[in-house]
Parts: sequence; C-alpha cells; structure tokens
Amino acid sequence: MLKVGLIGCGFMGTMHANCYKALSDKVEVVAVADLRNDKAKELADMFGAKIYADGEDLIKSENVDFVDICLPTYLHEKYAVMAMKNDRHVFVEKPLCRSKEEAENLIKVQKETGKTVQVGQVIRFWDEYAWLKDVKEKGTYGKLISGSFKRLSPRPEWAWENWLHDAEKSGGMALDLHIHDIDFIRYLMGEPKEVKAVGIEEKEGLTDYMMTSYIYDDAVLTAEGCWSYPADFRFSMAFCVRFEKATVYHDSGLGEFIVYPLEGGKFTPELNKADIGTAGSGNISSLGGYYNELKYFVELLENPSLTNIASLAEGARSVELALEGIKKAIN
Ligand SMILES: NC(=O)c1ccc[n+]([C@@H]2O[C@H](COP(=O)([O-])OP(=O)(O)OC[C@H]3O[C@@H](n4cnc5c(N)ncnc54)[C@H](O)[C@@H]3O)[C@@H](O)[C@H]2O)c1
Repeated sequence: MLKVGLIGCGFMGTMHANCYKALSDKVEVVAVADLRNDKAKELADMFGAKIYADGEDLIKSENVDFVDICLPTYLHEKYAVMAMKNDRHVFVEKPLCRSKEEAENLIKVQKETGKTVQVGQVIRFWDEYAWLKDVKEKGTYGKLISGSFKRLSPRPEWAWENWLHDAEKSGGMALDLHIHDIDFIRYLMGEPKEVKAVGIEEKEGLTDYMMTSYIYDDAVLTAEGCWSYPADFRFSMAFCVRFEKATVYHDSGLGEFIVYPLEGGKFTPELNKADIGTAGSGNISSLGGYYNELKYFVELLENPSLTNIASLAEGARSVELALEGIKKAIN
C-alpha cells in the first residue's frame, strides 16, 4: 500500500481525492495540506487523514511515498523540487510550470534525486483520446491526414484568490487550458515541423482565445482554445480527426463519439471506461481520465519498468511548445 500526501485541496485536489477513494486498495491518503482549513478538512474527513496548513510542512514531516501537487501553477516548481529533495516521488498537475527555466530546474533536480515524476497531462489518459492514440499507432484506419481539436469553456471563476486570471501565476488560457490539446497533439504526432498561432490578448499576458496549427510533413492539426464564454456556456472538449479510411468525431459536451468509415455508415466504439462517477465544481466533473492517470502513476511506482506516459520531460516540452505558440499568437 502506497502512502500519498495530497497538497492543494481546491478543485483539482477534490477530483484527485475522489480518485484515491476508488483506488483505496492500492493507495492510502495519509495527509492533506491546504492554507484553507475548511477545504483541507473536507478531504481529510474522507480518509481520516492528517491536516497540514502548508505543503512544506507535509513534505518535511510526513512519511509518504509520493506527494500529489494540486497547487496553483506558480507553486508547482517550488513544491515539486522540495518533494524530490525530500525523497518523495511526485505527481504534479499540469501545466508542469510557467517557464523554460523552471522546467530545466525540475529536470535537473530529478536527475540528481532519481525520483519518479508524472505530470497531470490527463488527456493522454482520457478514454476517447487514448482510443484515438491507439488506432493511430496501430494504423487501423491508415494514415492520419488532418485533425481539429477544441476546448471551449466558460470563464473559470472557482480558483483560490482568482489566481487563474493572473498571467504571472497561471500563464493564462494557453498554458492552463489550451495546453491539454497542445500536449495531446504532440503525443499523437510527435514534434511538429512548424507551429503557427493566432490569438486574442484581452488583458496583458492573458491570451483568452488561441488557435494553433501544427504542421507535419503530410498532416496538419489545429487546436482551438478559449475560456471566455459566458457562465452558462456548456464546457466542451472535442476533436474531429480524418484518417485515410475513416473520420473520428468526439464532442464531450454533446456526448458523441463516432467513427465514420469511408465506405459509409457510422458506429460508436466500445470503451472500457472506469465507472467511478463525478465530482468537483469546476468546468469538468467526469473523474474517468483523472482516475486513469493516477492509477497509472501508482502502477508506475510499483513497476518502474513501465513507460512513463506523461513524464517530466514530456510535460516540460509541452510547456515550451505552449509558450512558443503564445509568442507567435500575440506578436
Ligand atoms: N488536469 C485538469 O484537467 C485540470 C483542471 C483544473 C486545474 N488543473 C490544474 O490543477 C492545479 C490546481 O488548480 P485548481 O483549479 O485546483 O486551483 P484551486 O484554486 O481550486 O486550488 C488550489 C488550492 O491550493 C491551496 N494552496 C495555495 N497555496 C498553498 C500552499 N502553500 N500549501 C497548501 N495549499 C495551498 C489553495 O488554498 C487552494 O485550495 C493547477 O495547476 C491547474 O492548472 C488541472
């Protein structure tokens, strides 16, 4: 049984806590930390866990196998470095960090300490997207020709001290939301030959809307991200990917996942989804992808010969690519 300390008990900490409940045969949440005692208590009560007011106290006092960092993005580097230096493995939410320099320091400390780090690039573990990656790798429908990915959200207003809308703290929509598709496209296709981007900067440093294109030798993929829709707008993540022999369409908002074979007809592929319900109060409530990624991390710690699907280096490269897109979009 692995012991975890959960640091940050806001929106994402709550999602992860619910996943650990479903993983209770493998993981025990022994401690939680949050500056807000009411938030910490809510999650601690689910497990009978000890409460710390700050992540630093948890890391330094609690004998855990790994820490799960669900803190605002600007705190990821500090706490991940502290955890590795205190001999803890780390699961850290996406985006890994805010800059190339922070990413380089994290990679340096990981090399020195040899700890295992997985980044919460959850779309790699989201059932429909994982299915898409699988058929692409197997060549089931031939070569991938083009793809469009979307992530459209009402304005996120849940965050502690509204840190999401401070460019210094979150990196804005591109680093926080758009990075999911940036990361997945790179996971699916590898390094692009060229990146083109356009965007709208509604407040300095905050790209509220972005459209990014990734050009490959024989394919083009685009990603569109926006988090400035009105409060009652339905969050959706979607893709439409064209292979030589079929087109695959998914829209989470409409609940559609359809394959259209070239010869005609349509069908919905069967997915072996974990049935663990919903939680949280942000723009996503389905726990499936979060459960899959945390389950995978636990398996990785138990069996280090597994491939780290969302490694520190992968998270770092996606941050770099997102920053490159932002630069192109607003210049
Ligand atoms: N994977 C996804 O789909 C997804 C979705 C939303 C957010 N996220 C990421 O998760 C991370 C957390 O975002 P969130 O939406 O949960 O934010 P949030 O504001 O809801 O929660 C952050 C929590 O951290 C606490 N905190 C701040 N400083 C602390 C400290 N020093 N020690 C202990 N607790 C402290 C705050 O009190 C707050 O409860 C961010 O990096 C965000 O980008 C990922």
